[in-house]
Amino acid sequence: MKILVVGSGGREHALMWKLASDSCSPTLFCAPGNAGTANLGTNVPLAAEDIEGIVAWAREERPDLTVIGPEVPLCAGLVDLLISEGLRVFGPNRAAAQLEGSKVFAKEVMEAAGVPTARSASFTDPVAAKAYVRDEGAPIVIKAEGLAAGKGVTVCRTVAEAEAAIDAAMCSKVFGDAGSQILVEECLEGPEASILALVDGSRCVLLASSQDHKRAHDGDTGPNTGGMGAYSPAPVVTDALWPIIQEQVFDRTLEELQKRGIVFKGVLYAGLMLTDAGPKVLEFNTRFGDPETQVILPRLKTDLVPLFDACIDGVLSESMLAWESAACVTVVMAAAGYPGPYPKGDVIHGLAEAGALDGVTVFHAGTKFEGGQIVTAGGRVLSVTALGDTLSDAIRCAYTGTTYITFPGVWCRRDIAAKAIRVDGGP
Ligand code: AMP
Ligand code: GLY
Repeated sequence: MKILVVGSGGREHALMWKLASDSCSPTLFCAPGNAGTANLGTNVPLAAEDIEGIVAWAREERPDLTVIGPEVPLCAGLVDLLISEGLRVFGPNRAAAQLEGSKVFAKEVMEAAGVPTARSASFTDPVAAKAYVRDEGAPIVIKAEGLAAGKGVTVCRTVAEAEAAIDAAMCSKVFGDAGSQILVEECLEGPEASILALVDGSRCVLLASSQDHKRAHDGDTGPNTGGMGAYSPAPVVTDALWPIIQEQVFDRTLEELQKRGIVFKGVLYAGLMLTDAGPKVLEFNTRFGDPETQVILPRLKTDLVPLFDACIDGVLSESMLAWESAACVTVVMAAAGYPGPYPKGDVIHGLAEAGALDGVTVFHAGTKFEGGQIVTAGGRVLSVTALGDTLSDAIRCAYTGTTYITFPGVWCRRDIAAKAIRVDGGP
């Protein structure tokens, strides 16, 4: 069986790693991949955004299954194009991916479906947006309508900050066209968690809970990043919350999409705020999270290929999934300067030593082979992942893994998963 994974980050390395252990022993390809995925299959030198290139490659090579990691090709309709070539694809089509690609569309679906979410209003005129903000008062949240690489959200503590965020998005266009329209949203309070579900068109099966760390620095300070680490499970998601999240978030959303004639197959990811009034949706993504995937897949005991096949064929059931009770933590090792400008091409040492530790897997994110060595090629370079009997064990083990890895300027957050231990009441 031939499988193509589209993307080049830690998420895609984790997908390749899990697929490589599948009992169907697939032959793996990754476009474009990184130095980690190259060890598990063949890297195809096509960017994830090169829709035409990927369709042309797939037309020739006829993969039995294509799995798409990032949001840009999903929102651009790569799934629709591959399906029209008669190929099997795991991921939502263009219409379904709008749940991530358009925050206004996602809000409209949630409101129609009765999905709990923050109150909001959308604007194309900065003057009207500012008037609304002055009326509502602070704190308040400003969101770019379109895709902004996870950076389009500003949580504003004052009205002046909100006005500046409106100017940045709508006048200075710091998010490009994604900010021509904005959402102004009520500011919610509470712990956050990510719940991802596999969706087969008519059923959502929830995956293990997780939590990422979007801010660059310890204590959730500093600029937003693509994610500096994650852990699973997220203890804030208590047994009592699961049925509520299943029904109020996932089932209602899927039902509303069905009413609109939109078929969703793939991963639906809800970023949740667990408020005093119950879980509320902060955002939907229509794909696996990065770095959440790096902590969810190591806990999945069952093969992935049958799950992806079941989604495509509309025959998914909860009994097809089984989970390790072990906890999992991933710590992202980043290049100096990230999320600002950073150097590339620095040689990475210690990968084999870290990977040889019991329970540790080093997923590559921004790496490539150069002159027979593995060098840095992105801001988030590695995702050092560890399983442990408890979250505390997994934290210790992942951080031990990081001590073996060196490249100039390497840094990581020191407090990944620390907030979960506080919830757990552990040390
Ligand atoms: P998003 O990309 O929509 O997940 O937003 C990024 C981060 O902004 C979230 O993880 C939250 O920490 C924060 N955020 C988003 N929406 C809200 C909101 N309505 N109230 C408070 N914080 C928010
Ligand atoms: N970890 C957040 C995301 O994948 O969008």
